[in-house]
Amino acid sequence: MSNVVIVGAQWGDEGKGKVVDIYTEFANDVVRYQGGNNAGHTLVVGNEKTVLHLIPSGILHEGKRCIIGNGVVLDPKVFIEEIEGLKKKGYLKDDSQLVVDGNVNIIMPYHKAIDIARESSSSQRKIGTTGRGIGPTYEDKVGRRGIRFNDLIRPEMLARKVKEVLPEKNFFLEKFLGGTPLDEAAIIEEYTAYGQKLEKYLGAASKILNKSIEEGHNILFEGAQGALLDIDHGTYPYVTSSSTTSGGACTGTGVGPRFLHEVIGISKAYVTRVGEGPFPTELHDEMGEALRKAGQEFGATTGRPRRCGWFDAVALREAVRTNGMTGLAITKMDVLNDLETIKICTAYSYRGELLEDFPQDFEILKECKPVYEELEGWQTDIAGATSFETLPVKAQEYLKKLEAVTGCPAVLISIGPRRDETIQVKNPFV
Ligand code: IMP
Repeated sequence: MSNVVIVGAQWGDEGKGKVVDIYTEFANDVVRYQGGNNAGHTLVVGNEKTVLHLIPSGILHEGKRCIIGNGVVLDPKVFIEEIEGLKKKGYLKDDSQLVVDGNVNIIMPYHKAIDIARESSSSQRKIGTTGRGIGPTYEDKVGRRGIRFNDLIRPEMLARKVKEVLPEKNFFLEKFLGGTPLDEAAIIEEYTAYGQKLEKYLGAASKILNKSIEEGHNILFEGAQGALLDIDHGTYPYVTSSSTTSGGACTGTGVGPRFLHEVIGISKAYVTRVGEGPFPTELHDEMGEALRKAGQEFGATTGRPRRCGWFDAVALREAVRTNGMTGLAITKMDVLNDLETIKICTAYSYRGELLEDFPQDFEILKECKPVYEELEGWQTDIAGATSFETLPVKAQEYLKKLEAVTGCPAVLISIGPRRDETIQVKNPFV
């Protein structure tokens, strides 16, 4: 038995969806433990593309149980749309395949309104959020005024909680942010209907997963966003509001750390970031543009163009440590196919000093300049490669260099968007 946690090793959008989809074959349960519909996982099965924001990508496999753990924040409208979209395509024939923990916090209309109003306000710091209400929902969770899935499915409780919290939200929205107050009755009516529709998915993640472990099953913990967007360990304040690192897999599901066996960090062969915040290896030239074009680097959730840059080993070493990573999955290798030379950032230069460790202090990070090593590119289409050895020698050298500078072995290499365009060096489940 092996339980595996998948985390983004950079600033999100590393291609976790595809890796989760591949690993799902070896797992009995797939569970999301943090974040919400700020995530966007694009999956290509055959020639059909499916984008999922909330439901674990494991749902595309019949007979796999997909669980939304207590650490997730859930927008019921988006969730229902996703369920209906999947059913239309012939997935999710059996509703017991999908479980939502009762303690999941619900994204309410005022969370979205506050998120959007803050981001467009000239007096507030702009984070470049996805505008999905994620931060305000987590604020209410920690502030002990959140509405949970257990409340959503009980009409009286839902009405009572909305009545309790809405006056304060409307005051803030209207008087401070200059927005429009929201209508109490309309919210109660709309959300009661969602609750009734979703009631059948209620479950207790911790109990289900621990029982599954007792029975010797394999569990796949599906992280969203990336290690550098973690609320504690990321580039604060330019982060998301949840624990994206592997520790979140425990608190976000109710499974103890002794049951987590492998932590696989997903990393692109280069780096991208959306939203604001420091990004030392960002390229503002034609090379950045070329990476964006070759990698089709536009957000799956918001459609925003992603900022692109060279592989940053300093940032990645930070992610290896904060997650206790046991392996790396390197994605989008094929995007580098045409390049004559490829750079890897191995250290930062800060006011003439060489830094090998990622600075904890944001003020220092802002001023860091990348120190690069340059490697020759392979300038060949790697589409047909089926093993590490069948990759061009220069591609092998690039991967070996990534392993050396990050101190973490590459267990999977993705050379295209399809399932069959994947090289599995070592399977973490066996
Ligand atoms: P929020 O999660 O919407 O609050 O956004 C906070 C920051 O996290 C912003 O910079 C977003 O662009 C970033 N972010 C949130 N979700 C994702 C994701 O799935 N991929 C990449 N960046 C994300």
